Formats: sequence, structure tokens, C-alpha cells
Amino acid sequence: MATLPIVRLGHPALRTAAEAVEPAAIPDLAPLIDAMVETMRQAAGVGLAAPQVGEELQLFVYEAAGGEEHAAIPLTVVINPLITPLPGELVYDWEGCLSIPELRGLVPRHPALKLSGLDRDGKAFERHAEGFEARIIQHEFDHLNGIVFLDRMRDLRSLAYSEELQRYFGSGDESEADAVDEPADAADE
Ligand code: NI
Repeated sequence: MATLPIVRLGHPALRTAAEAVEPAAIPDLAPLIDAMVETMRQAAGVGLAAPQVGEELQLFVYEAAGGEEHAAIPLTVVINPLITPLPGELVYDWEGCLSIPELRGLVPRHPALKLSGLDRDGKAFERHAEGFEARIIQHEFDHLNGIVFLDRMRDLRSLAYSEELQRYFGSGDESEADAVDEPADAADE
């Protein structure tokens, strides 16, 4: 299946509020959704929002393999999402973005949230998400509002190239370097 070019920072779609999808138009989005899923998988990302492929629509997909730090997250397609953060201290962790290649930064996010929206069949659903999944959802939701993870950072001094993070701050222990929360291995979203 064909993949789509991922636009990078500087493309206007990444700085534009995406439009809500008309429910009647959802069946027509199937090819776009399939191509976004394929593009995310090919790029080894854990999330992809429509603006990242130049489509200014309120739509994102996410999926993650399980690891030492979190359980596997099944493929989820969300159209016209709403998120309600749940109470809890903000949590800092490393993020990357397929539209901002190679860079990593520490980003504060709500630890848990309620996600609601429409699935790819146009059916309303609601989900409780926490931890890594909640982080991915907040990152992708931001993309629908023209916000990137750099805007959420509280201290730009943690911004770094993943290769340098690995070189200077990697543990050197392979088993630890494979951990998901190692900065160089932070997932792209
Ligand atoms: Ni991103």
C-alpha cells in the first residue's frame, strides 16, 4: 500500500487548526486513513495526525508495540476528537515527532485523560487513556490545533538530537538503551 509524504515543520498545515470532518464524509476518508496507518508504520512512529500528511482534517491514528515500559497499544483511529484531562500532576517524558525529525525534548503532559470521538466507521466512542497512550493522544491532538511538542516544552535546554543523546547520555548498556524511555529511543509521533 502506498505511503504518504510526511510534511515537516515549516509546512503551513502544521500551524493551522484542522477542520472537523462532516460525518457524511467519513466513508470517503477510508483510503486516507489506510495510507496514514501505513505511513505511520513505515516511519516507525506511534502516532500520525492528518496535518502531518498535509490534510487539515481532525483525524489522527496511533498504535504502539509493547515494551518494558508500557503495554501494546492497539491501532486506534480518531475523527473529531475531544480530550478531557483527568486530575493529576503533569508528567515529563521524552517526545519526538515525525515532522521534526531526529529531535527529542522533555514535554509535560497530563497523566490520564478521557478521549472521545468518532471511529473510522463514524461510530462515537469514548476511551480512558493513561501514561504513554495519554501522551500520544495529547501530542496528536495538538497537531490538530497547529501545536507541536516544541511549543509544550517548558525548558528548551533538553532539546537535543537523538544521536547525541545516545552518544553522551546513553547508558552504554544495551538492555537499558532499548528501554522505551531512553531519550534516543523515544517514539516519534
Ligand atoms: Ni508529531
